[in-house]
Amino acid sequence: MTSTSAPRGTILVINGPNLNLLGTREPGIYGTATLDDVEQLAIGAAAGHGFEADCIQSNHEGDLLDAIHAARETASGIVINAGAYTHTSVALRDALASVALPAVEVHISNVHKREEFRHHSYLSPVVDSVIVGAGVHGYVLAIDYLAHTLP
Ligand code: DQA
Repeated sequence: MTSTSAPRGTILVINGPNLNLLGTREPGIYGTATLDDVEQLAIGAAAGHGFEADCIQSNHEGDLLDAIHAARETASGIVINAGAYTHTSVALRDALASVALPAVEVHISNVHKREEFRHHSYLSPVVDSVIVGAGVHGYVLAIDYLAHTLP
């Protein structure tokens, strides 16, 4: 079925390093859904709220920064799983703070049940919501939240 209504806007869904390996990467921790499954889930969740989802994944910090900067012109909100950069990147934190778009940080695993170095996030203080440990459904919850708060 096609819809004639204009989309409410675009939600940028960013996946960082190693998340291209979802499906085969440590399935006991991250499950068996692939990155493509995650992106289709996000597109479907966004469409259910009248949004488009623009999905990107990169293993390179600079690409993630460029995507966040570009979102100023193209997106109404951001969902970000920055993978390991969550725990290391002041630059990603500064980018999210600079664009000042509504943003949700997602982690598939419950990082707080894991190694101590995963307990700290540079991003959490500059996003609106953090969803951890809900598996790939966390992306759906993040989009539901943004759709609930955006005009
Ligand atoms: C992750 C958790 C991070 O600690 C890890 O480096 C990842 C994935 C998650 O989705 O659970 O790459 O962000």
